[in-house]
Amino acid sequence: MVVVVTQEELRAARRRLIEPVGLVPTMGSLHDGHLSLVKYAINECASVVVSIFVNPTQFGPQEDLGKYPRNLSRDLTLLESGKVNLVWTPTEEVMYPPGYQTWVSVEEIAKPLEGSMRPGHFRGVATVVAKLYNVIQPQKAYFGQKDAQQAAVIRQMSRDLNFPIEIVVCPTLREPDGLAMSSRNVYLSPNERQASVAISQALFKAKEAFQAGVRDVNHLMKVVSETIGAEPLIKVQYISCAHPDTLQELEGTVEQGLLSVAVYIGNTRLIDNIVL
Ligand code: PAJ
Repeated sequence: MVVVVTQEELRAARRRLIEPVGLVPTMGSLHDGHLSLVKYAINECASVVVSIFVNPTQFGPQEDLGKYPRNLSRDLTLLESGKVNLVWTPTEEVMYPPGYQTWVSVEEIAKPLEGSMRPGHFRGVATVVAKLYNVIQPQKAYFGQKDAQQAAVIRQMSRDLNFPIEIVVCPTLREPDGLAMSSRNVYLSPNERQASVAISQALFKAKEAFQAGVRDVNHLMKVVSETIGAEPLIKVQYISCAHPDTLQELEGTVEQGLLSVAVYIGNTRLIDNIVL
């Protein structure tokens, strides 16, 4: 496994990789969810590149950029035990040198849900992923269903900007009690961690209702809000049932949908979703 920092080192190492190359973009602090994407990439590609970069431009001014968990040596040890060929760990200077001023802004699909709660977030995500694509030139790129809107935004960007890259969206990995794995879960106190189970339970309950024949979107969302509402430590930011491709909010009777939630537990913001 080769670990590089600069763009020049990356391009030189990339030239030696056998194609097809799979890319797994991450912000590090790796957990089994990230590693599952790496496994998909290893199974489907001749070479695998992982990027680790806590991308400052996708964090809002009041968000957790400063305290976002970073643990590069542990991350590299985890990747070493897989069959990853190349890891790119650019610095902020490498990614955004002084004078940087070009942005990728995806429009409609980036507006609702996370886009409305985190202004500028998807501009930062789309920009950094476009830059990763340009430097690494993978044939495939792997993203998690955990961040469903992010995957949709990146799919839209790839289509609109003619990136010849296949996007693979992999299932959400969960803790045994259902909590979606996230680098931010380390922020939770023991009490908060216990309370957090209500998030996935609410989504599973709604999915059960859907599978039992409930099609009324208000009814499904009520199942989610009541289950989460029973947990006093959780503050709901949004509950949504949207079209899985357009992310437009659904009304009335639904035959399919992306049911997603964003909550605060104390100061920690968590998101999760389930496909109906
Ligand atoms: P990060 O939060 O580190 O996540 C990297 C990738 O892992 C994303 O595609 C995310 O959806 C996926 N992932 C996170 N938790 C997961 C889980 N429990 N199960 C499956 N996959 C999971 O998302 C980002 O970084 C950044 O926005 C990035 C795309 C790297 C751009 O900076």
